[in-house]
Amino acid sequence: MNESSRLADPGIIPDPYPVYAELAEREPVHWSDGLQAWAVLRYADCADALKDPRLSAERMDEVLRVKFEGRTVPPDSIYHRFTKNVMMYTDPPLHDSLRRSTQPAFTRAAHDHYREVIRHVAADLVASVPRQATEIDAVSELALRLPVRTSVQVFGVPEEDLDFVIPRVNALMTYWSGPQDQPVEFDRLLEHLTDLHTYVLELLQGRRGRVLPDTAIARLASAGDDDTDSTLEQAIHQLVLLLIALYAPTTPGSASSGMLSFARNPDQIERFLTERACADNVVDEVVRYNASNQFTWRVAKEDLEIGGVPVEKGRCVAIFLGAANRDHRVFAEPNVFDLGRANSDKNLSFGAWPHSCLGRQIASLQLRWFFTALFARFPKIRLAGEPEWNPNLEFRSLRSLPLGLD
Ligand code: HEM
Repeated sequence: MNESSRLADPGIIPDPYPVYAELAEREPVHWSDGLQAWAVLRYADCADALKDPRLSAERMDEVLRVKFEGRTVPPDSIYHRFTKNVMMYTDPPLHDSLRRSTQPAFTRAAHDHYREVIRHVAADLVASVPRQATEIDAVSELALRLPVRTSVQVFGVPEEDLDFVIPRVNALMTYWSGPQDQPVEFDRLLEHLTDLHTYVLELLQGRRGRVLPDTAIARLASAGDDDTDSTLEQAIHQLVLLLIALYAPTTPGSASSGMLSFARNPDQIERFLTERACADNVVDEVVRYNASNQFTWRVAKEDLEIGGVPVEKGRCVAIFLGAANRDHRVFAEPNVFDLGRANSDKNLSFGAWPHSCLGRQIASLQLRWFFTALFARFPKIRLAGEPEWNPNLEFRSLRSLPLGLD
């Protein structure tokens, strides 16, 4: 395998960092045949790329072209209506107005409320581990359940609708993770996307399960379109995007990779429990050490240069957030998991600038309260077998994590 395709080699998923480090020294911006994109590996280049208006977030036409070559869809298809009307895949100024339309669910007061709810969610989750358990799969029993419980209690997805929503989001995620093998047929994906749109409309009309009060969906529903200039259809698109983001592998990926980091570095559990500053730094260092979204995509709107390398108009650019977080030019001893690190908060795991993660605070609250509850009950977690990774570098997350609970 030639060097440039190593980024697309699933063999690197358990530990991609030596490959990143080597490429970052030799060819920090290089063409990857496997990804069909310019891969950007150094922190400074990644940070510049995230704020460069010449790099467009409108990338879903390219993803369609790479994943389903020759497949076209009419402009009024759900595919185009959705991808061209959600904040994640649009550029300013449309992006900004779509993002603003979701503001009622993300105010400071809303987050103050979510903080308390998430604290209970995390405590209940850890308390649900049976008293006699000495060993668990921490992915299925803890990490995967954290966002599901949060989706009900904080977002307001009715409990009785979870079996409808989650399988559809999981199928869509196989497509969302960029150009690579696609196990689900395109027509089936379009059906799932349509189903989720119909679902959200019915939810807002009160024709599905009951939305809990004070949740994100309740706040968006009661704000209506009074406060914004977006249409009902756009509001539905943003809610579908939020559902996808909620159940994406990012939150469980961070919770489980964090448990793995602690199990391999038990001294850091001790610091978490005894040093307030280390506890406060836990989310930033956990997501710096292992980004659960290892890279994100842009498309060059014009000919430009990244790190001195010419990038032609129309080419995809893969911004390696996970590599930037281990750049020794920014983070001293980047491969050490260190809660005492002074600049963990410079991590790029939640993106930055216009598209910085809208769910960052909610995800951070989940992780913070989760580790607090976990170590209060199990201060001596240890690895009880080999961790297994899902075969996806872009959304890098564990499939199983055998943990001993002494
Ligand atoms: C640890 C968990 C999470 C991680 C690591 C993460 C990571 C990211 C990253 C890297 C981006 C930027 C993508 C880009 O620039 O192309 C992003 C955007 C976004 N995230 Fe998250 N995310 C997480 C959790 C969540 C949650 C729980 C939600 C839902 C509430 C969410 C909603 C969003 C939305 C809506 C955007 C698009 C923002 C925009 O384009 O303006 N994320 N996230």
